[in-house]
Amino acid sequence: MPIFGSWSRASLVAIAVTIAAAACGSHPSSGDPKAGAALVQSSNCAGCHGGQFQGDLGPKLVGIEKWRRPEQIAKAITNPEPPMPMFAFTPQQVADVVAYLSQLDGSTANGGGVMRPKISILPAKPTDSAMVSVWFSGSPPPDATVEATMSMGHSMMGTSPIKLKKTGDPHKLTAKVPFGMGGPWMIKVRYDKSQEVDMPVNVAQ
Ligand code: HEC
Repeated sequence: MPIFGSWSRASLVAIAVTIAAAACGSHPSSGDPKAGAALVQSSNCAGCHGGQFQGDLGPKLVGIEKWRRPEQIAKAITNPEPPMPMFAFTPQQVADVVAYLSQLDGSTANGGGVMRPKISILPAKPTDSAMVSVWFSGSPPPDATVEATMSMGHSMMGTSPIKLKKTGDPHKLTAKVPFGMGGPWMIKVRYDKSQEVDMPVNVAQ
């Protein structure tokens, strides 16, 4: 059973008028995965698609860009099959979500050849802390850190950046991330000075 906190119920019942132009209004490759991650978090897509989008009530979304074209992913969002609810997304927001979903497996949105790191969180439904593992396609950058943030109204709370440490796997770094309280947290992995990959996680406490 998917778990919906009270924070998500509002977004689940928000039924929006579909914007017919959503799928073609803006090209999905112009989407911003970071903005998409925030929307996916606040909409609790993970409540149905699994904590790490591996599939639950709704189908697996990791790797979706391999079996659906961007227009098809956008259409699944703007014209959902029940029980998937309708979300009040603008065409840009749909493009952002499509860009985010298309890189959950580490692919780059526009196939630039450089793989983005892949994040996994254990346990998938953490309570007080989680082990965050990050796989890099090449040698992991020395400056990689992870932090957890949660927005509360207008303010943002979170951990300070935690250095990701080497493991026996030459491509994998890990760190333990503590959560001060339950709720919709965002795991942020930063590396190479300005690169960032986000992964939402719902913490039950
Ligand atoms: C209430 C549960 C629920 C929620 C919440 C939900 N989904 Fe779904 N989603 C589903 C189900 C069930 C399907 C399969 C529908 C079908 O085709 O029968 C689906 C299908 C999809 C598909 C198509 C997958 C494919 O392989 O064709 C995408 C993409 C998708 N959802 C994205 C999202 C996103 C993004 C969100 C959050 C903004 C979200 N979903 C929220 C239940 C949900």
